[in-house]
Amino acid sequence: MLSTKDYILSYLLEQEDFISGEILSSRLEISRAAVNTAVKALRSEGYNILSSTKKGYKIIDPPDKTGYGELLHYLPEDRVKLIHSFDEVSSTNDTLKQLSFDGAPGGTVVIADYQSKGKGRRGRSFDSPHGTGVYFSYLMRPSIAPADASQITARTAVAVCRAIRRSCGIDPQIKWVNDLVAGSKKVTGILTEMTFESESGTIDSIVIGIGINVDQKETDFPEDIRDIAGSLMMAKGEYIRRAPLVAALTEEMDILSSSMPDGTSDYLSEYRKRCLTLGKEVSVVKVHDSGEVPRHGTAVDINPDFSLKVRFEDGHEEDLMSGEVSVRGLYGYI
Ligand code: BTN
Repeated sequence: MLSTKDYILSYLLEQEDFISGEILSSRLEISRAAVNTAVKALRSEGYNILSSTKKGYKIIDPPDKTGYGELLHYLPEDRVKLIHSFDEVSSTNDTLKQLSFDGAPGGTVVIADYQSKGKGRRGRSFDSPHGTGVYFSYLMRPSIAPADASQITARTAVAVCRAIRRSCGIDPQIKWVNDLVAGSKKVTGILTEMTFESESGTIDSIVIGIGINVDQKETDFPEDIRDIAGSLMMAKGEYIRRAPLVAALTEEMDILSSSMPDGTSDYLSEYRKRCLTLGKEVSVVKVHDSGEVPRHGTAVDINPDFSLKVRFEDGHEEDLMSGEVSVRGLYGYI
């Protein structure tokens, strides 16, 4: 999976100045000719690499890619080996489900630069253009009861917020249950898919798909979602590089995975702090009630299992595990 050119790229990215061919060949224990061949291959992929007979090689304005070379710059080699990076897939969740079926271990990650059939929740599609988003799927094989699995999605929302804060300096909010909002627009969606072992009824695998709009401009989004969707760049007003974000996401998902099934409290308390739904007027449409009139109420609490407690206009309260909940004053309120 990892090739010479990935290691060379990571060394070039590390170095602000020229690095000599001799150092590269001795660090990687390869010939100078092999270094040359790898540099040529990188150039043909669009990397601008200067070479000087005396000083060696230097990379100029590296493009915003999320291949192995970029990831090696931020993550240890052993961690990168569990990441599968593609230029294009139909859906990173589907690719990871296949790898999981073939026996991939927990912690395996699939990322892609483009998804031709990105999937959203409730059978919707997820717009996944080339080069401007992060399309990331993470495999978990946790020993938890199926009933506790729904919490993973909510905890993932917190993990993604942490990764975005660390790598981009933006603090997103969470719209219950797992949309991330920045600059009043949805910037991230999460789709969790599970497989069960039919005999025992236990969880075999959980594929958590995370789609982040990173560098789209408003006009890059299809017209029908422009009121709803935004990007991290739109929220921050600055271009954002994706490789550090992918690395931070990997680390935060590893932390989340090792915290399962315990470690609820720090995710729950941070979830409550970040949840913009809490205390707001909401309208609720149950998942299977398409066509039903929305019911209005106030979101009064996030319960320890991350369900949403809503007090409806007639005074009765319900704990919602799922459903379409929109927030007054934010996109999508009916
Ligand atoms: C939603 O908000 O409806 C969920 C969107 C989830 C999109 C991500 S992108 C990576 C992974 N692969 C997919 O096909 N979908 C998820």
